[in-house]
Amino acid sequence: MAIWNLGSINADMVYAVPHLPGPGETLAASGMERFLGGKGANMSVAAARAGSHVHQIGAVGPDGRWAVDRLTEYGVDTRHIATLEAPTGHAIIAVEPGGENLIVLLPGANRAISPERIANVLADATPGDLLVMQNETSAQVEAARLGRERGLTVCYAAAPFDAQAVRDVLPWLDFLILNAVEAEQLQQATGLSPDQLPVQHVIVTLGSKGARYFDTNRGKTAEYPAHKVTAVDTTGAGDTFTGYVLSGMDRGLPMPQAIAQAMRAAALMVMRHGTADVIPDLKEVLEARF
Ligand code: RIB
Ligand code: NA
Repeated sequence: MAIWNLGSINADMVYAVPHLPGPGETLAASGMERFLGGKGANMSVAAARAGSHVHQIGAVGPDGRWAVDRLTEYGVDTRHIATLEAPTGHAIIAVEPGGENLIVLLPGANRAISPERIANVLADATPGDLLVMQNETSAQVEAARLGRERGLTVCYAAAPFDAQAVRDVLPWLDFLILNAVEAEQLQQATGLSPDQLPVQHVIVTLGSKGARYFDTNRGKTAEYPAHKVTAVDTTGAGDTFTGYVLSGMDRGLPMPQAIAQAMRAAALMVMRHGTADVIPDLKEVLEARF
């Protein structure tokens, strides 16, 4: 089995700031570090480090070779990453001492991925493989439709949230993951609560309160608490959670166990600065004490 991730690849410029800036404010950062990031890349690295074979479907610009090399180094299959005449995506990220962030994103090459490329790539996928997308690339709807046609399990992490983007992919989804605010917004847009969505598996993440899982076919709901840790940087924790859940599904774990591993991985991530470069592997996740 494999995971196919139509996902963004960004350079994350992470600035340590005393508080998140407001409108019109000029703020001095105490430091800056560059990481590999992008919600897509973060999920791929998390799933690969958890033990899955992950194909990243994506794009960088001519200046993005380093990002592809790093993904390869972290165990992600990068054969299907194109180099396009567009800037490599990047994110300006401000992080305050309590770990909360503010992100400004330039999607660049991530939004220049064509549906034709996805069709070519997915011709190699096997029914039963997982296909995952987030909302930082182009061609999500085409990918979701194709994924369903090919018998893949189609997963979508609704971040950055856009109600219309979720509605567009909804008919083809088997698995949806979103946070509590996003679930509320989606309910406003569709009139449907998470358990009423036409999607078999729905996970609503609740930050420090954990996550709620809806098995809509069976009409079952379960809650999973988060580990109590001191946050220094929450950036990438949600992506790591999703990557670990997907990998758990890919490795055939029952959902409660997949979510339990993902909770541990996410807890480690909020305790460290940075994104894809610092995502823990399965051994670390299982051995961690909280
Ligand atoms: O979710 C965190 C990610 O959002 C960062 O890595 C940044 O690149 C943006 O995509
Ligand atoms: Na982090």
